[in-house]
Amino acid sequence: MTEIKASEYRIAVIGTGAIGSAVARRLLAGGHDVVVWNRTASRSATLVDAGAVPAGSAGEAVSSATLVLLTLTDHVAVRQCLAELDGDLSGRTIVAMCTGTADDAKHAAQRVTALGASYLDAGIQAAPEMIGTDAATILYSGSRPAFERHRAVLGLLSTPHFVGDAPQAAAIWDLTLFGLWYDAQLGLLRALDTVREAGIDVAEFVDTAVGQLGHVVTGASTTASELQRGTYPAGPATLAEHLTVIRHLIALRGGQALGDGGLPAVAARIEALMAQGREGEGLTATIAPIATTTNQASPAQPVAVGQDQHEQ
Ligand SMILES: NC(=O)c1ccc[n+]([C@@H]2O[C@H](COP(=O)([O-])OP(=O)(O)OC[C@H]3O[C@@H](n4cnc5c(N)ncnc54)[C@H](OP(=O)(O)O)[C@@H]3O)[C@@H](O)[C@H]2O)c1
Repeated sequence: MTEIKASEYRIAVIGTGAIGSAVARRLLAGGHDVVVWNRTASRSATLVDAGAVPAGSAGEAVSSATLVLLTLTDHVAVRQCLAELDGDLSGRTIVAMCTGTADDAKHAAQRVTALGASYLDAGIQAAPEMIGTDAATILYSGSRPAFERHRAVLGLLSTPHFVGDAPQAAAIWDLTLFGLWYDAQLGLLRALDTVREAGIDVAEFVDTAVGQLGHVVTGASTTASELQRGTYPAGPATLAEHLTVIRHLIALRGGQALGDGGLPAVAARIEALMAQGREGEGLTATIAPIATTTNQASPAQPVAVGQDQHEQ
């Protein structure tokens, strides 16, 4: 094992899988002093050939470094790694660079802080081959001073984007952005499944579907500002008009492999708003608070899907 000599600024990359290897390679290319540790030592060999210093343990790598990047599978592995560390780690910054939940980030932040180090959580919105290119987005949250201290180095991996002082902020951004992709992609799959079942040519349909997806993108900023202002103009359709279409869609999607996409819950929400006389508002109102009025013991009772409005 190579002896790890003292260095003023060394970066430890713990976990040299796909992301960790890409990160370590980029840092080495940037002229940095990089120490690596991987549970399966042989997987770090090419990085060692490229100039990284191999450590005998995660603890050895961490204690020799200023900035520690935990590029591990998940927070189970992060917890195991952090549990093995002891002593005073003050002056160091430990970054958990893996997909996880808000609770995972809070737990890791507590443990790192108890060890005397600063904590950053990182959400990677990039494939390994994108690391170090303009296409990579990495979201950071936690210790702002630590982020500022290491901004230039983190900037070698992607344009660094600090999203909040709460340690869990990056995890929430990261998971929500993944969720947005799933919603759009699964929405497309549901649509293709429906038309294919109906004997329609999916290739012909998809050209028009792309335009429909584009409407969401075009209107995104307007939707965000409606939410911020707390006003919900009808836009292309009122809630009453949306409800009619949503009920038809629930019927059309019955029995589909991917289910109805949660539309009955949306319909119930619209019905509750309409019961308060808000049928002229737009779809953004569905995520606004629904006020309870003094003469109502509980929020408005949703009408069963399919029931006509005049029957209320
Ligand atoms: N790859 C992507 O495209 C991508 C994109 C965005 C986000 N991410 C996120 O980035 C993180 C890393 O992903 P990856 O693609 O680099 O994964 P990966 O290639 O599977 O690498 C996982 C690394 O974690 C190590 N590891 C796993 N469990 C461990 C444990 N209990 N103790 C010590 N080391 C352990 C593995 O060591 P061994 O070699 O010994 O197994 C390996 O070095 C994940 O959270 C992933 O969700 C990945």
